Amino acid sequence: MRTSSSSSSLECVEGPIIVGAGPSGIAVAACLSRYSIPSIILERSDCIASLWQNKTYDRLKLHLPKNFCQLPLMGFPQTFPKYPTKYQFISYMDSYASHFKVQPKFNQTVHVAEFDPSSQIWLVRTQDSLYLSPWLIVATGENAEPMIPKILGIDKFHGAVVHTSAYKSGDAYKNKKVLVIGCGNSGMEVSLDLCRHNAKPYMVARNTVHVLPREILGISSFGIAMALYKWFPLKIVDKFLLLVANMMLGNTSHYGIRRPKTGPIELKLATGKTPVLDVGQVAQIKSGNIKVMEGVKEITRNGAKFVDGQEKEFDAIILATGYKSNVPTWLKTRRGLSGTSSDAVKIANDIADQWKTLKKDNNNNSHIIQLNNS
Ligand SMILES: Cc1cc2nc3c(=O)[nH]c(=O)nc-3n(C[C@H](O)[C@H](O)[C@H](O)COP(=O)(O)OP(=O)(O)OC[C@H]3O[C@@H](n4cnc5c(N)ncnc54)[C@H](O)[C@@H]3O)c2cc1C
Ligand SMILES: *[C@@H]1O[C@H](CO)[C@@H](O)[C@H](O)[C@H]1NC(C)=O
Ligand SMILES: *[C@@H]1O[C@H](CO)[C@@H](O)[C@H](O)[C@H]1NC(C)=O
Ligand SMILES: *[C@@H]1O[C@H](CO)[C@@H](O)[C@H](O)[C@H]1NC(C)=O
Repeated sequence: MRTSSSSSSLECVEGPIIVGAGPSGIAVAACLSRYSIPSIILERSDCIASLWQNKTYDRLKLHLPKNFCQLPLMGFPQTFPKYPTKYQFISYMDSYASHFKVQPKFNQTVHVAEFDPSSQIWLVRTQDSLYLSPWLIVATGENAEPMIPKILGIDKFHGAVVHTSAYKSGDAYKNKKVLVIGCGNSGMEVSLDLCRHNAKPYMVARNTVHVLPREILGISSFGIAMALYKWFPLKIVDKFLLLVANMMLGNTSHYGIRRPKTGPIELKLATGKTPVLDVGQVAQIKSGNIKVMEGVKEITRNGAKFVDGQEKEFDAIILATGYKSNVPTWLKTRRGLSGTSSDAVKIANDIADQWKTLKKDNNNNSHIIQLNNS
């Protein structure tokens, strides 16, 4: 008789189990190590920061100035520019992980995580192992799985259909007509990259979206918004941002990009939907190099039919349709995620407190923490 667990290995972990070796997971492990708390990181890929290493396009730079993006305990090198490139960010992640001696277990995809109430222990199962710990830290991010919408007729299309997570550069699209479906940060930046490689992008903007200038008078819009938010109500901050955005970018609905009714920061806080920061897309849209289309009715063998009745031929389709978390598929808990959105430092502090108690009275205490990046 075969038992399904016969080839599994079992590991009792001394400290917390962290799922995901992205920036969040690595940062938590580093903060824990400061308290001499051991931890293990389970990572499905074969490297750290795999979203950045394997699923982003070549030209990507951080959207926010570096001071907003550095991890705790060890900042970016002085020599980095204001908006580091993805390669600089990856090299920073590499030195961060080696400085704090963070060594994730790779090729470990978490399939199930269950809390056993009687023993107060998390049972975390990967494809070939079972890990046990009183603590589980979820750091798998909001970009774990590409969102692939059902679009009528798309399987009949003659050319390539790729999600932005597989898009590296516009090099392969020179002189091609490319339908980019989606108008968030990915859709806008891929369209811009396509322009710079002399491709002809048509970007579908079915949903509303806020586009903001990346900087206002040389200061990052995000920084300005955060500073104002300390003193003014959210609605006032949003009004200010929209006023400046309209002055600098014009009325975006005149070129097909409709704004949501809710202001940009309010929307971000309520739904997590990030405003698009303009790094040159708007100029390309205004000059007609990026064509904005209203919505796709259906994909045909050679192209697409749009809701406004137009029909066009395309060589390729890029799905800039976003990502979703995979946590609901593997985390088995009825306690909910209780809206925890704390940073690495806070989590490490929490666990350090429990760690002391645990060591003192050997009285286990379950804990689950979900890292939300924003
Ligand atoms: C194109 C693009 C550009 C971006 N630009 C910026 C930016 O400029 N500034 C910014 O602040 N943010 C940006 N982001 C957001 C990005 O999510 C964060 O910067 C950051 O990567 C989040 O870190 P994280 O560790 O929370 O998640 P991730 O970096 O997504 O790391 C999660 C890790 O968990 C692993 N994992 C997932 N599921 C499992 C599982 N079941 N078992 C085991 N391992 C698993 C993944 O392989 C991954 O390595 C961008 C995202 C994208 C897609
Ligand atoms: C991701 O990219 C890194 C760096 O190029 C490479 O070492 C690693 O093998 C890649 N992993 C996957 C799963 O493609
Ligand atoms: C990852 O794990 C699977 C299942 O245990 C195994 O078949 C595969 O060879 C491993 N891959 C690497 C690169 O170690
Ligand atoms: C932008 O233009 C639309 C019509 O194209 C109009 O309804 C809207 O009020 C304008 N917005 C602003 C802020 O001027």
